[in-house]
This record gives sequence, structure tokens and C-alpha cells, in this order.
Amino acid sequence: MPFPTTRLRRMRRTETLRGLVRESHLAPAHLIQPAFVVPGEGVREEVDSMPGVERFSISELVAEATELTSVGIGAVLLFGIPSAKDETGSGAYDDEGVVQMAVRALKEAHPDLIVITDVCLCAYTSHGHCGFVRDGEIDNDLTNELLAKTAISHAEAGADAVAPSDMMDGRVGTIRFQLDEEGHPNVPIVAYSAKYASAFYGPFREAAESTPEFGDRRSYQLDPANSDEAVREAKLDLEEGADMLMVKPATPYLDVVRRVKDETGAPVAAYHVSGEYSMLKAAAANGWIDERAAVLETLTSIRRAGADAIVTYYAKEAAGWLR
Ligand code: PBG
Repeated sequence: MPFPTTRLRRMRRTETLRGLVRESHLAPAHLIQPAFVVPGEGVREEVDSMPGVERFSISELVAEATELTSVGIGAVLLFGIPSAKDETGSGAYDDEGVVQMAVRALKEAHPDLIVITDVCLCAYTSHGHCGFVRDGEIDNDLTNELLAKTAISHAEAGADAVAPSDMMDGRVGTIRFQLDEEGHPNVPIVAYSAKYASAFYGPFREAAESTPEFGDRRSYQLDPANSDEAVREAKLDLEEGADMLMVKPATPYLDVVRRVKDETGAPVAAYHVSGEYSMLKAAAANGWIDERAAVLETLTSIRRAGADAIVTYYAKEAAGWLR
């Protein structure tokens, strides 16, 4: 017997051979760009902890969308930062709220751009929690009613899909039922099904001004140690009518992405969150990594784990590199 019979290196010899056997692919069509919209006129402000990420007022966001579509990005995930916050997060379901107005402007200027809206109360409540707080505790079921109101106001403004990120029990079912009742049976729900209580959201909370004033989010977001529970959350959301399941963050939870994909067979998105972005940016700024290579490797690994779509602050830049 000649040694060795099987030589896996044979198919790695040239780039063309490697291309023939490549298992995962990454294209701009897989990427969703998150965007922060703020009140005002002519505002473009960089987020200190997220170099390259800006918060836009509506007309600037519309201009940014032109750039996104020109590099092949087909979808954005919108977060609003309201001018005022209150106990019930009423800015979240205000028909003239910053997200609702931004959706109308975006859809008018870019009818083909898919506009997904984040549905949560944390940026709109004075206490910064994702739900309605009564006696220091989150009232799950009342929160669901407020989330459904928020989702409906986004759908009325023209949102193509709504993405609840609060982690309340039963919210997908409540939102689905009420969207249908209000005449929006074709608006999909992209459910943040497995959203972990993660340290990697730090930079986002600066960008969205959504740090909780007391306590933390561990009574509603998943324990980082668990993945059986993530699969249960994903299956429940599907039963309640979710159209796409999201795992978040992405790179520390690639095993969860794989499990959710294998055990549900449903469309899966992974959210490459603010902290994951900022770590890459910081290392690149110091010249410690090759940014382009490290980012494309990271995003490819998220696809390899089983994600159909990736929400990432690198969407626009990566799409430019992939062209
Ligand atoms: C709010 C929300 C968060 C993120 C998306 N929606 C933060 C949180 O739960 O505190 C995090 C996104 C990121 O870090 O990029 N419910």
C-alpha cells in the first residue's frame, strides 16, 4: 500500500480546486445592516465605542441606504433613539415616533430595501428595561401588549418585517395574533429567540442609550451556559408563528446557531453584535489583525455554523470587500 491513499491536500492545491469543494458561501445578500436613527435634522454622529458606526437622522439614513443598496445590501434592521423616555416606553408605539417616520421615509425612497424594525421597549423606557416594570419586576403579559402595539405601528408605517428582541414569554404569539387582526398577515416576525444575557452588548447600549438603570437583563435573556433552553425557545417561537429565528450574539454561540438550525430546519439569523464588532475594530486599529481577512473569516464561520442571514455592523464594509 502506498502511503497515504487519501490525501485531502490534493483538493486544496489551487484556488479553483478549493472553490469547487467550498462548503459555505458569503455574499452581500446574506447580510443585514443594523442602523440607529435619531430625531433631528442633518445629524450624523459617530458612536465612540463603535468606530465606523454612526447614528443618523432620517434624511441622512435615507442617503446611507443609497450607499447600502449600491454595494448589494438588501436589508436593514432599524433601532430608534427617541427624544424622550417614560415609564411605559410610549415612544416605541407612537405613530409619529422616530422609527415609524424613518420607515416611511426609507420605504418611499427605497421601495425594494427590506426594512426590519427592532421591537423592544428598552430604548424608550426611563428605566431602560425591555418591559413594563411594576414594583421592580417586569410584567411579562402587559409588556406583550405594548410590544404588539409597537409592532403594529411599525407595520402600519410600512415595515417589511418586525423583530422582537425583548425575550418576554409568549410575545411572538401575541404579536402574530394582533398583526393578523389589524390586517398585516403578511408581515413576517424575525424572532430574537435565543438572545443571551451577554457582556458583548456594551457598545450597543451606549449607541442606543438603553443601559438598565437598576439590575440587569438576566431575568429575561438566556443564561450563557445553556443551549437546550435555546432550542426550546426557538421551537416555542416557531409554534407561536415566528418566520425566522435569531441567535445572538453570534461568534460565542456558534454551537447554538448549529443546534437551532439542525433541530428546527427553520430560517436562522445570527446577530454579530456590537461587542464582537468593536473587538475586531480595536484589534485592527492597533494593527494586530488583518481586518478584512479576520472579518470575512468571522462572517464565513457564522454561515458555516448554519446561519442563513447575518446581522452585522460590518455589513456595508464586508459587502464592499465581497464585490
Ligand atoms: C435591545 C437590544 C439589544 C441589542 C439589540 N436589541 C441590547 C440589549 O439587550 O441590551 C444588542 C445589539 C448589539 O449589541 O449589537 N433589546
